[in-house]
Amino acid sequence: MCGIVSVLSRNDGIIRDLIDCLSRLEYRGYDSAGIAYVDKNSRLCVKKTIGKIASLEKIIDFNEGARCRIGIGHTRWATHGEVTIQNAHPHTSDEVAIVHNGIIENYESLKESLMKDGFVFDGVSDSEVVAKLISYHLKKNNDFLKAFQATIGQLKGAFAIVAIHADYPYMLLGAKRGSPMAVGLSPDSQRFYIASDAVALSSLCHDIVYLDEGDSVVCELTDELRYRILNSNLEVVDRQKTRNNVSLHDVTKNGFEDFMLKEIFEEPVVAQRVFRNFKCNVNVADYRSIYIIACGTSYYAGLLAKYWLESLSRVHTDVEIASEFRYRNPVLSRETLYIFISQSGETIDTLSAMRQVKNMGFKTLAIVNVEGSSIAREADECIHTDAGFEIGVASTKSFVAQTMVMLLLSIQQKSRLNIDGITYTMYSILNDGFVIKALAERIKDKARLLYLGRGGSFPIALEGALKMKELSYVSAEGYPSGEIKHGPIAMIDHQVYSIIIAPDDYYVGKTIVNAREILARNGEVLLITTGKVLANLHDLKKNKLVDHILLKDQWEYSTDPAVDQLLRSWPYVTAIHMLAYYVAKARGLNADQPRNLAKSVTVE
Ligand code: F6R
Repeated sequence: MCGIVSVLSRNDGIIRDLIDCLSRLEYRGYDSAGIAYVDKNSRLCVKKTIGKIASLEKIIDFNEGARCRIGIGHTRWATHGEVTIQNAHPHTSDEVAIVHNGIIENYESLKESLMKDGFVFDGVSDSEVVAKLISYHLKKNNDFLKAFQATIGQLKGAFAIVAIHADYPYMLLGAKRGSPMAVGLSPDSQRFYIASDAVALSSLCHDIVYLDEGDSVVCELTDELRYRILNSNLEVVDRQKTRNNVSLHDVTKNGFEDFMLKEIFEEPVVAQRVFRNFKCNVNVADYRSIYIIACGTSYYAGLLAKYWLESLSRVHTDVEIASEFRYRNPVLSRETLYIFISQSGETIDTLSAMRQVKNMGFKTLAIVNVEGSSIAREADECIHTDAGFEIGVASTKSFVAQTMVMLLLSIQQKSRLNIDGITYTMYSILNDGFVIKALAERIKDKARLLYLGRGGSFPIALEGALKMKELSYVSAEGYPSGEIKHGPIAMIDHQVYSIIIAPDDYYVGKTIVNAREILARNGEVLLITTGKVLANLHDLKKNKLVDHILLKDQWEYSTDPAVDQLLRSWPYVTAIHMLAYYVAKARGLNADQPRNLAKSVTVE
């Protein structure tokens, strides 16, 4: 949620770095963007625009900015205040400029008191108070560092803030409370960066340091670049360096039209990699029950895992959405293992839920894709999902990695899985992408979509509906097929298009009955199924009553037929991801950056 970046350099020409970092951070928000820098005449210059980094780039004079050595940048996901230039960052006050990610909870009272002191506000964003408050403190003691520290001390909420001052072109200040912040030196020690995450600094810093809660960072350019990290008591502390693992492959499209398509094509590779490298000290069978807590797609990964954990490990499993769990005062137990699933490792609801459980002294296991993220660092145990960096705002390959980890936890012995069978099905879906693309043209104008599935196909249906909603803005709902007769069937008519996940599994007969119930009420149906299942539906096939995506199902996913049954629907996720992608493209939408969304949800 919002990306921030900043640089202090021994040499000129930092604007290109700021823009490149912001482009890589765009997945965190793309409502507006801006930079501020101190030019060669010691003037504070600010450039802001509505929309994306490409628009920002157009209003920047790279020659004019060529001689500057300090600057900050921001890409915004709007929380407080509409998407306007006034609310776009950086915010300034006199010679001070700041960028902020997060929320200042007490901004109203601070603003009121600053206004009484004569400060005038341009916009309505909570962030603007930070710049004004630094100015207020500067008027009192004229020391930038002290004014910054006094300001941070007055703020309540979750935030990461970076500040510069035109009269201090050699000093870059940052502070972290609740929102992520990574810092790093370029390999030649010429440039120091503060940013929201490792991806911003990929190709710029080999090693990075993640700040701890309450830390601040002071970087100064004297005869050389020096930085120090201070804890919340303002004592200088050492924080561990970590390798910046975000590769160039992760942050480039490699010939694909969009990151999302590239990431869907990586799904079988990710499944193989997670399977191969899986290591874990936790045995789910040691616990009386499992409680999985997550949001969005990660929550659906947890729902699918419930089918596996209970069937394969016979451990009672609950799954709950983090934003509900954290305020519900749930009954917790020492005999339960609490699992938190998160791609980004920064989702505030999941992180807060985990902190609650940890504070009560119960065991937490995180399943996280971003190494060094807050959830990864704070959990008692962490399994890294190793999907590679995911840039498309919609989670795709991460879901595959998360569910593979959960499956390996449930099944306990890798040898019980035929990983090649699972990835073969995924590859065959990718090869038949043109069929899904053609279907997307038919689906793109449908007003209402219903995704249905039974057993393990139900979480896949939910995931399909979520992807369709977020990418195509089409109303889509996911339901267990067996549940439609308890209500949703009332809305079926020729305008409702039902997408039914019907692998050749134990449930298929019942699922097909549900499809027929819909067809009998003039609803349209798309079956995602196998040739074998469709071959038995002569009447539907002959009369072309159903659309279909056919999967080649001749591979077994496990030598144990019971395990094989449980997994039949899982690789279908590649098909529903592709369908959502192609419908978005058919509707002329940006699949990587759907409107109103951001990848890392660090606000409530
Ligand atoms: C959907 C999607 C979101 C995330 C959710 C949780 O495609 O990406 O629903 O799954 O915001 O994010 P993480 O997994 O980072 O905690």
